[in-house]
Amino acid sequence: MPNITFIDAHGESRTVEAETGSTVMETAIRNAVPGIEAECGGACACATCHVYVDDAWTAAVGPAEPMEEDMLDFAFDVRPNSRLSCQIRIRDDLDGLIVRTPERQG
Ligand code: FES
Repeated sequence: MPNITFIDAHGESRTVEAETGSTVMETAIRNAVPGIEAECGGACACATCHVYVDDAWTAAVGPAEPMEEDMLDFAFDVRPNSRLSCQIRIRDDLDGLIVRTPERQG
């Protein structure tokens, strides 16, 4: 199973096992990773699952779809590597993925 590392705004890091086919958001919720609220449950309708994809992983993860881009406008402190974690589906080749959570959601 792929490992995903979440680093919070204070630099604290948590590495958890993810299920291939699930999303980064679902993995965070299942493992009680703080910093991701996911109010809409993964429907790309809340922007409270915002993460920053580590620079080394942005190409592998790929860009946001237009609908996700629109929703990211509602996120706090959006950067070029911002993504909504409910829209990142985990594949085996994302083993080792690093994402950072923002200081706050929404
Ligand atoms: S969980 Fe609501 S947009 Fe991702």
